[in-house]
Amino acid sequence: MTHLFSPLTLRGTTVRNRVWLAPMCQYSAVDGLPQDWHLAHLGAMASGGFGLLLTEATAVVPEGRITPQDTGLWSDAHTEAWARIVDFVHARGALIGTQLAHAGRKASTFRPWDERSGSVPTSEGGWIAPAPSAEPFPGYAVPAEMSRHDIDDVVLAFAAATRRALAAGFDTVEVHAAHGYLLHEFLSPLSNHRTDGYGGSLENRARLLLEVVDAVRRAWPTDRPVLVRISATDWTPGGLTVEESGVVAGWMADHGVDLVDVSSGGNVPAEIPLGPGYQVPLARAVREAAGLPVGAVGLLTTGAQAEEVLAEGSADVVLLGRAALRDPMWPLRAAAELGIEATTGGAVHDGPIAWQPQHERGAWRR
Ligand SMILES: Cc1cc2nc3c(=O)[nH]c(=O)nc-3n(C[C@H](O)[C@H](O)[C@H](O)COP(=O)(O)O)c2cc1C
Repeated sequence: MTHLFSPLTLRGTTVRNRVWLAPMCQYSAVDGLPQDWHLAHLGAMASGGFGLLLTEATAVVPEGRITPQDTGLWSDAHTEAWARIVDFVHARGALIGTQLAHAGRKASTFRPWDERSGSVPTSEGGWIAPAPSAEPFPGYAVPAEMSRHDIDDVVLAFAAATRRALAAGFDTVEVHAAHGYLLHEFLSPLSNHRTDGYGGSLENRARLLLEVVDAVRRAWPTDRPVLVRISATDWTPGGLTVEESGVVAGWMADHGVDLVDVSSGGNVPAEIPLGPGYQVPLARAVREAAGLPVGAVGLLTTGAQAEEVLAEGSADVVLLGRAALRDPMWPLRAAAELGIEATTGGAVHDGPIAWQPQHERGAWRR
């Protein structure tokens, strides 16, 4: 038995293993609709043995997209397009959640491989980004400070997108409150200078996040988990601290959140001490402070390393980003390395990890 290839049950939902795909933007949607690319990309990850896949940041409203090529869930056409992908992933034995997102002041930017960087001008299909305060992310256009009405609309949009996620067949939803996007912008004193009930104290800065969590929880079945991704620290003096994040995670647990996916940074340019597993201590700190399951992510690259993170009690699941892009078969490879026999013979719904029958002749044999 390994920790990595043990099931995890959150509420009434059991995930076959604890190697999960981190949410990763593909910047390849058209009007928010996922394309064949998304089916091929996520389909490969499901075939590779991930227990649960998280979709890329999927905007709850068009103006909540990071780039005009982000996916969304703001209309029934989006529900339908995602349902096809969800069904494909399920047929491979994996579960799938969608990361519900609003990019706040980091919305309306060029995608990474565009010749230009920074904000897309309104004259070229961009839009003015909404934010807690009218202060830009360095190098981006100045956002518009949100009114109370705008805030209420965001909460309603998260609830509506959650209902669509349910209709599309997703197993979980992850609220994106990390990386300097809208909910993180509210949480951090570096980007939130409001003087109303949504700014100032930690309780006020966390108000919008908890309102979103409540709205999502109400729209989501009680037997399916709700996850939240946070940036546990801004890595900047005067910014959000891991101690504050532990407190907020405790509040989230009280509001029905089942697992916190612990990332960091993104709200302001900062020097981040990058290295193998560099965010694992943050996950552990949040887990200990809040007493709820957490995910660890960030430069986890080998099966032995990922197993150790779970074995030492730092986290309950690991999420892989770039290692999965390099090798969608990462979980099957790690299972072979750790001596776990993957299910064969087409029984993809049995056991912690399975070979798709079409790929079986490539199986690593002991
Ligand atoms: C291409 C790419 C797109 C990403 N998009 C998202 C995203 O949509 N939402 C998010 O929370 N994180 C996003 N991330 C961050 C990853 O989820 C992950 O936290 C990060 O890459 C660190 O993990 P890794 O070292 O395993 O890649 C993205 C990362 C990459 C490489």
